[in-house]
Amino acid sequence: MRQVIAPPVLDYLARHHPPLEPVLESIRAEGLAAGLPLVDAATARLLRALVVALGAGRVLEIGTAIGYSATCMALALPSDGVLLTMELDADRAATARRNFGRAGVDAKVNVIVGDASRFLHKVAGPFDLIFQDGSKQLYEPLLDRLVDRLRLGGVLVTDNVLWHGEVIEGFVDPPERDPCDTDAIRRYNDRLASDARLFTTFLPLGDGVALSVRV
Ligand SMILES: C[S@@+](CC[C@H](N)C(=O)[O-])C[C@H]1O[C@@H](n2cnc3c(N)ncnc32)[C@H](O)[C@@H]1O
Repeated sequence: MRQVIAPPVLDYLARHHPPLEPVLESIRAEGLAAGLPLVDAATARLLRALVVALGAGRVLEIGTAIGYSATCMALALPSDGVLLTMELDADRAATARRNFGRAGVDAKVNVIVGDASRFLHKVAGPFDLIFQDGSKQLYEPLLDRLVDRLRLGGVLVTDNVLWHGEVIEGFVDPPERDPCDTDAIRRYNDRLASDARLFTTFLPLGDGVALSVRV
């Protein structure tokens, strides 16, 4: 995998990000061993920091996988907080539910199994924080629906906006990733950058993270 950030910088930052709860680290290890594309540890920490900073009580996630990022956020939610997370793959969703039980956050987390583009209309906002980490080709088509469900001052976080540098023409030559995904992320980034409802900053963290505040 091509790194956008120089490896010595990554090593330095990793040393300043000590492990979090053992159960969370165990879920991460399980996901990585299964080859799942979980958020990197620094991005998970950013999500947790936002839950705390926003005083979040309602969080929405697209793309649960086995529940690593959701657990990281849910552990910081108040006891009456709610995290709704959507996952297309039923087996992954079942594993995520088990992991939420292991982490003691199952009372706060609700997993919806199915295609987010079909279930989103059943979900009422407002949310304090939304994490978009599902299908790259759905990023742009779902944007308006996610913004509609974000409270003023709430934050939409989107992972993989640098796509290992492939969104930058010629950075990876020849490209290694599905060009449909790469083009979809480029279109999405252009939309975010010009969307007056959002104040967006793109962070070269992990695989690239867009942080968009609803203004
Ligand atoms: C990058 S992984 C999520 C990783 C997870 N957020 C974490 O860091 O722990 C993306 C997930 O989105 C799911 N997914 C893909 N398309 C989806 C869709 N249309 N609706 C819901 N989930 C979808 C995939 O099955 C996959 O498990």
